[in-house]
Amino acid sequence: MSARHPELADRVAVVTGAAKGIGRGIAVRLAHEGMRVAIVDIDGDALADAADALGAIGARHLPLRADVGSPDDIDAMFRSVRESFGTIGLLVNNAADLERRRPLDEHPELLELQLATNVTGPYLCSQRAARIMAASAGGSIVNISSVGALRAHHRGLPYDVTKGAIDAMTRAMAIDLGQYGIRVNAIAPGVTHTYRADASVGTATYRATEERIPLRRFGTVADVAAMVAFLASDDASYVTGQVICVDGGITAQLSPPGPGALEPEPDDVVPPTPERTATP
Ligand SMILES: NC(=O)c1ccc[n+]([C@@H]2O[C@H](COP(=O)([O-])OP(=O)(O)OC[C@H]3O[C@@H](n4cnc5c(N)ncnc54)[C@H](O)[C@@H]3O)[C@@H](O)[C@H]2O)c1
Repeated sequence: MSARHPELADRVAVVTGAAKGIGRGIAVRLAHEGMRVAIVDIDGDALADAADALGAIGARHLPLRADVGSPDDIDAMFRSVRESFGTIGLLVNNAADLERRRPLDEHPELLELQLATNVTGPYLCSQRAARIMAASAGGSIVNISSVGALRAHHRGLPYDVTKGAIDAMTRAMAIDLGQYGIRVNAIAPGVTHTYRADASVGTATYRATEERIPLRRFGTVADVAAMVAFLASDDASYVTGQVICVDGGITAQLSPPGPGALEPEPDDVVPPTPERTATP
């Protein structure tokens, strides 16, 4: 694809969790915009595969194996980015642990892991990136949240808790960092088709899920990546502190279609008034 936001060319992006899924799609999109992209992930094999894919499209990229739950790894990662690229214009906090558990299970270890990966990691990465951005021309931070922050998933614990924290962090950082020319926004994807959903395409569950989404399809990694590119671009230069849903309308919906849905009853339908329908 050709670049939609030419001003992004040569700017430096850091994308966490970029080896697979949505993060990988974001890295590819930013590379198509001409950005230099540091791809960060805990999964070394998948990271090597993503680096090959970026190399194949001629992207200037830097693969970095790091655990965003480790402050030492985060320090090393930012040092490497500065050594290789000199600066940072965009940070995408995408890496997360997505596991959810049954409501009656106790899971303090999972809560601890997800707080470290999904909250402390983005917090520390944002602080490190902000110091670099504040000392240069400013920049943009995009957090990948979830519709689970705004409307709970069934069996959403502890994941939804961490995404609620990301939304609050987005607003808090945005108002403090605006004075340094740094914009902070979040994207809340709805159900997004990644490799995880490949095996279920065509199943009754997959189709039923599509039917519950107002736009009647899963989101794609490209849908999310397009919003990242927009938020990073100069077209979004007055947008900060926002959480933008890329969800096919699912959070706008009071009740999903199907049996039991809150469809209008015949009595609810108000006939058009003669004045409105009369043609002059
Ligand atoms: N897939 C969806 O339907 C969906 C919906 C809403 C929000 N999201 C959000 O989008 C983001 C990406 O989700 P995805 O579906 O692509 O998930 P994914 O599991 O496919 O990809 C996550 C990536 O992050 C990496 N990662 C995990 N822990 C890490 C750590 N400690 N340090 C560094 N890297 C780490 C993984 O190795 C993986 O490559 C997440 O923030 C997730 O919460 C996804």
